[in-house]
Amino acid sequence: MSTPVRRIQFGVFFQGVNSSTVWDAPESGSQTDFESFRRLAQTAERGLFTAFFLGEGLRLREHLGRLHDLDIAGRPDAITQLAALASVTERIGLVATQNTTYNDPIDLAHRLQSLDVLSGGRAAWNVVTTDNAWTGENFRRGGYLDHADRYTHAADVIAIARRVWDAVPDNAADGLLAVLPDPFRYDTAYYSVEGRGVLPRSTQGHPVLFQAGDSAEGRDFAARNAEVIFSAHAQLEPATEFAADIRARTLAAGRPADDLKIFPGQEFIVVDDASETEEKVRWVREHQITPQTAVAFVEQLWGAELPDLDPDGPLPSFDPVQSITGETRGAGFRATKAVETARAWRELSQERGWSIRDLVINVSTRRGFAGTASQIADELEPFARTGVVDGFNITPWLIPGGLDDIVNKLVPELQERGIYWTDYPGDTLRENLGLREPLTRRSAADVVATVPEAATVP
Ligand SMILES: Cc1cc2nc3c(=O)[nH]c(=O)nc-3n(C[C@H](O)[C@H](O)[C@H](O)COP(=O)(O)O)c2cc1C
Repeated sequence: MSTPVRRIQFGVFFQGVNSSTVWDAPESGSQTDFESFRRLAQTAERGLFTAFFLGEGLRLREHLGRLHDLDIAGRPDAITQLAALASVTERIGLVATQNTTYNDPIDLAHRLQSLDVLSGGRAAWNVVTTDNAWTGENFRRGGYLDHADRYTHAADVIAIARRVWDAVPDNAADGLLAVLPDPFRYDTAYYSVEGRGVLPRSTQGHPVLFQAGDSAEGRDFAARNAEVIFSAHAQLEPATEFAADIRARTLAAGRPADDLKIFPGQEFIVVDDASETEEKVRWVREHQITPQTAVAFVEQLWGAELPDLDPDGPLPSFDPVQSITGETRGAGFRATKAVETARAWRELSQERGWSIRDLVINVSTRRGFAGTASQIADELEPFARTGVVDGFNITPWLIPGGLDDIVNKLVPELQERGIYWTDYPGDTLRENLGLREPLTRRSAADVVATVPEAATVP
């Protein structure tokens, strides 16, 4: 029996920070002007992208007490940006990353639901936990949550949000409520609230729930709560392992295996002629990893300033001053064995003849998909055949023009091969992702009856 070919979907992840963006190219635009967001979102919509995705960072990242030069632009609040984008787009989903640690659940639920209602059912919430104390210093609670507690707390925040979204009955959609719905009570270790719904539901019922976090706890949390998981596993083999793991966890959580869609983040570099690929990839990598970025990366592992370090020279001959990396201020390594890693890097560099910058390029950037539209389509076909991912969340290396080649060249190629849709199948994000009703709004019987065959793949 032949396996049905599935369609690959695309989202776009506007990072606004980090070295994935080439900041110094002549075509590079502002990372904070609305014009950049508008152009990228409208290009993505022209290319029938499923979602426009924004991360969150509530404190500029620091490196050894200094701001990292690539994070200066910062990130405007996602819900605010997406509300503005809702008015200049019609079908693309609008995904806001919002942490569960520093937001008040009822207020957050209200703001997300507002985006959902105002955009005609296109909103999603990417749930992140952001437990680090340095972000916490910006809030009145200080550091607030231990690493171990963040997912139990996040589950409470989501449960309260769902109560808010379900609090006003469907028949109130026209704004006429004959009887005020009862308030709901929610009492747990973290919250004791009496809440009332504020808005009627959007056309998709609830904002779609995304989750990004890769630990075993994060994956279980996604399996219990999320509808889309934003993963970091984009190559076929790791993506296949990840999908098997996520599908097993989703089944264990009492949900159909395909209830949780998988969208790895990935970079695409499209060229016109195959002979240009290597040169273009090299150019992008060298502009992503500037000499300063390479030095900062090494300093993060060593845990010390290394003012005499030459990015074109070898790694320091001495070991890091820390044996394990501690909490870094937003970048780099969490609990990495610094001395061991440094020794492995030194060995690798000597073996390959790499300078510091070469090493950082190789250990901090991913290969991504690179080549002509037809070569990239060849690479994507196995994903469509096996269904190990539902789509890719594309990180453009250039803002705002970084989707142009993908939309103009790759999308038509995928359409011709029947592995990319030729129109949006629905009006809401939930419909376009092929999702079922929100979790609180379906009965177990509904779910079991609608498990499609694809749920068993791989
Ligand atoms: C692909 C991906 C994207 C993420 N994006 C953000 C983000 O924009 N803002 C944020 O505060 N945390 C972000 N996170 C961090 C996670 O929410 C989480 O705090 C972190 O991965 C540690 O959790 P874990 O141990 O479960 O992986 C992201 C994580 C992943 C894997």
